[in-house]
Amino acid sequence: MTKPTYYITTPIYYPSGDLHIGHTYTTVAADTMKRFKTLTGYDAYLLTGTDEHGQKIQKVAEAAGVSPQEYVDGQIEKIQALWKLMNIDYDQFIRTTDPEHVKTIQRIFKKLYDQGDIYKGKYEGHYCTPCESFWTDSQLVDGKCPDCGREVQTASEEAYFFRMSKYADRLIDYIETHPDFIQPESRKNEMLNNFLRPGLQDLCVSRSSFDWGVPVSFDPDHVVYVWMDALPNYISALGYLNDKENLMDRYWPADVHLVGKDIIRFHTIYWPIFLMALDLPLPKKVYGHGWILIKGGKMSKSFGNVVDPVVLAEKYGVDALRYHVLSDMKAGADGSYNEDLLVAKINADLANDLGNLLSRTAAMTVKYFGGVLPETREAAPLDEELISLAQETPARVEEYMNKLDYSRALEAVWNLISRANKYIDETQPWILGKDPEQAARLGAVLYNLTETLRYVTVLISSFMPETAQKIKGQLELTDEELTWESLASFGGYQDGKKIERHAPLFPRIEAEKSEEGGKSARADKAAAGKNAVQKQEKKKKKQEKKKDEHPAEITIEDFMKPEFVVGKIVSCEKHPDADRLLVSQIDIGTETRQIVSGIASQYSPEDMVGRQVIVVKNLKPVKLRGIESAGMILAADDGSSIALLGPDKELPAGSQVR
Ligand code: MSP
Repeated sequence: MTKPTYYITTPIYYPSGDLHIGHTYTTVAADTMKRFKTLTGYDAYLLTGTDEHGQKIQKVAEAAGVSPQEYVDGQIEKIQALWKLMNIDYDQFIRTTDPEHVKTIQRIFKKLYDQGDIYKGKYEGHYCTPCESFWTDSQLVDGKCPDCGREVQTASEEAYFFRMSKYADRLIDYIETHPDFIQPESRKNEMLNNFLRPGLQDLCVSRSSFDWGVPVSFDPDHVVYVWMDALPNYISALGYLNDKENLMDRYWPADVHLVGKDIIRFHTIYWPIFLMALDLPLPKKVYGHGWILIKGGKMSKSFGNVVDPVVLAEKYGVDALRYHVLSDMKAGADGSYNEDLLVAKINADLANDLGNLLSRTAAMTVKYFGGVLPETREAAPLDEELISLAQETPARVEEYMNKLDYSRALEAVWNLISRANKYIDETQPWILGKDPEQAARLGAVLYNLTETLRYVTVLISSFMPETAQKIKGQLELTDEELTWESLASFGGYQDGKKIERHAPLFPRIEAEKSEEGGKSARADKAAAGKNAVQKQEKKKKKQEKKKDEHPAEITIEDFMKPEFVVGKIVSCEKHPDADRLLVSQIDIGTETRQIVSGIASQYSPEDMVGRQVIVVKNLKPVKLRGIESAGMILAADDGSSIALLGPDKELPAGSQVR
């Protein structure tokens, strides 16, 4: 029987700088899905690669004093080494400089030109070099790039255009009749309301002011505009209109394009329209994930806050890093990177929960049975809850994975791990071990734990492949015992194996190892032993205490008293007399308000400008360190990190919040 196919792609990355933890997150997520689909019986194919053309790359190469080709060749080695380190099992690494890709792009361009979808005109508008995007006057925000907020340049040149508007109605209809096409749901509404329904402009698809790109075959003064070069990588990789092996019939349409929220527009508007024009089916799903933020703001080389995945993987291990990004990024939402939290998570979930379950089970099997589980085992009603949870967990994990909800899938596995740890406390094997008459009962307890660990091993194998291999070795699991089908019934762990004690899977990390923990350790010797978990516990207690301090219920009338509105930050500067405070000028529709907020430890004035926030409008003005503050902006605070609240799509300043 032929297997169903599953084609998943990552974006192709710009090789203009080193890749960071955000890019690592997308690629690890795609790899985990490929592994999971393979495990559950699919013929899965993972594509990743690099987007090597464009003005930005040309400029970076010039600055480095090498040719663009030499520059990208050097970068590719580093990127591939990163994916090797992170255990990314891709099937193909596509480069937009591959001659076969170039052929595809030239042929697509010619075909669309011949059929009248592309025409020659004159381009007048604005160009954002870092984003490689053209913008019209109405799309600019305060005269700046709406995506990155940077300066744009005016541009006017002969160029080719794609007739986007011709396909807009078909696309709106497609999106409305295919609810799974754009996920999560909120991104779909954003695309429909902000871009498609207001009407699409024709898209400029060539440039003649630089030459690092795919030349238009019939007009070589022009190179193909980057998105029309980049997006078709998903089909050129499968041999579309080129001489590679034809994999189109097997894998197209893609099951999912996994992309970050900033490029969802290109994938759900330009790309489907190009495909419609080429008469090809559309991908089944485009999933737009959130961003990994640093202290609530963007990670960028210019802010000097880029988190290097190689450093983290070397410090904490590849699987710990994979686990961190997959479990801490909640489906579709932004997440925050914080090294203390990463350490706390490794200690709590990996060293304690999973690591201890394995080491306690192995140690007791060695101690009481010389490592070989007895074949005579006595079941008890206490076993049932653990067994049924183990049997239910695979379906739960699969359900969440089908929604690309990695963190919930992992949560389901950790539920099982916690249940197994609780089972140890309930059954007290160390007491059973003292009584020779209880050997069969003890045998059953240790068997159930080992069998649960087998389930866990299969379930985590897509997320943490190295860890699964380590447990496999320690429990002497065979390949047959690690199949998805083998989870159909509890009891698949075969007798006759010899379990041994090994070094801990995830040694606990002491505070010094984490940079942030290290700083506090150096600053205060007495606190040297305090690790991140303790810090977390303290924080939790503090939050609970805070909760208790405000137990009173309020009525709906009370709740209606404050007036909340959407405001847009027009400008922002540091308070002249207080390091903690920022002074923002905020457009709230009816006027511009000055508001002082205590968020300077986590947001810089540059982070603030252009943001939409929620403002408490009718708060009595006060002076904060001599500067008047007329209102308040809302933020969430977990004791160490602050996150500003705002609407999840741009709304006019002054919009009511209710
Ligand atoms: N070359 C284009 C993609 C073309 S796909 C046909 C591109 N490249 S990129 O290198 O700038 O970004 C690649 C991906 O990394 C995007 O999906 C982007 O959202 C993601 N990320 C960049 N920074 C990120 C975080 N801080 N967090 C999570 N993902 C982020 O765009």
